[in-house]
Amino acid sequence: MRKKILLTGGAGFIGVNLAAELLKNKDNFVVVYDNLSRPGVEDNLAWLRKQKFPNFQFIRGDIRDFKKLKQVVSDSREIYHLAAQVAVTRSVTDPIEDFEINAAGTLYLLEATRLKSPGAVFVFASTNKVYGELGHLKLKETQTRYIFTGKQKGVAETENLNFHSPYGNSKGAADQYVRDYHRIYGMKTVVFRQSCIYGPHQKGNEDQGWVAHFVIRALRQEAINIYGDGKQVRDLLEVSDLLKAYQMAVRQIGKCAGQIYNIGGGLENTFSLLELINFLEKELKREIECHFFQWRPGDQKIFVSDNTKLLRDLGWKPAVFREEGVRNLIAWMRNNLELND
Ligand SMILES: NC(=O)c1ccc[n+]([C@@H]2O[C@H](COP(=O)([O-])OP(=O)(O)OC[C@H]3O[C@@H](n4cnc5c(N)ncnc54)[C@H](O)[C@@H]3O)[C@@H](O)[C@H]2O)c1
Repeated sequence: MRKKILLTGGAGFIGVNLAAELLKNKDNFVVVYDNLSRPGVEDNLAWLRKQKFPNFQFIRGDIRDFKKLKQVVSDSREIYHLAAQVAVTRSVTDPIEDFEINAAGTLYLLEATRLKSPGAVFVFASTNKVYGELGHLKLKETQTRYIFTGKQKGVAETENLNFHSPYGNSKGAADQYVRDYHRIYGMKTVVFRQSCIYGPHQKGNEDQGWVAHFVIRALRQEAINIYGDGKQVRDLLEVSDLLKAYQMAVRQIGKCAGQIYNIGGGLENTFSLLELINFLEKELKREIECHFFQWRPGDQKIFVSDNTKLLRDLGWKPAVFREEGVRNLIAWMRNNLELND
């Protein structure tokens, strides 16, 4: 009997990469549940279908549809909850929709799982935005970036929660519910507070997915808009490394059920916005025009994930270094640029 694996938001960037990986194993039966609301993700679905995996099923549906979720979740052994309203900007203009999808939607899925597949492993894609602006961190400013003044390796899970922006609140509430379903109902849940993830199939735009967005703009010789001074720093994690962590967690669920992990590229894989632009200019051998605007709400000057807990508990660390990963993304985007029209 094949193992049923459910991916909500499975047509999205992380979802399509995860689905393709899981579908390689013929013992898996992979169900993608997505309402295709993110512009462009139909391309990801079309690409998945083109691979002609015999063990793949797509169900169009909304994470807010509790009745349908109860049917879809039945008999699942693994559930990856990736469906979300993903843009901070959109959450500010429509906070109720954002809450309904991210917070209530997650609760519906947890509850459906508790009722229909309580033994399933439940992986949740949370975000580093649950830590807010991190205004208390002592920083220095160089010509191209912000840096920590001390020896800080990054932000650990012990950092105070400080939900900032409706997106931060809705994902943060979901993050806490997911952990609590382990404490209260004994479900096998695990939460990943993800930094900036990048890689193939990402429909990057100005609101979300900035690495892919910058690469697309640069390849098209279009200007890039920067909100803030461009010195904000992010640790970049290539999607294949994230998927490895998901798989390691599922395999070692006895150790990590009920746990929360920060996950990102770590200190060695940071870029500021200005530095990524500089890197792209060198790679593409041309100048990129930039326009500067006001900071966006809740934007962190620096976020670097301290991955120590994940290394200690599960033996995970990132393997794809930033230059290699961004070069691969440039190559992929060159071949698929028409998909991002
Ligand atoms: N990509 C990152 O850098 C990053 C960082 C931190 C957290 N995350 C989280 O990881 C998850 C996946 O992110 P992604 O980058 O693949 O985003 P994505 O936008 O590419 O994928 C999300 C998918 O969810 C679907 N969706 C949206 N609303 C839905 C609804 N109401 N019902 C059903 N499906 C719906 C969309 O159509 C899309 O296919 C999200 O939960 C996001 O918050 C991503």
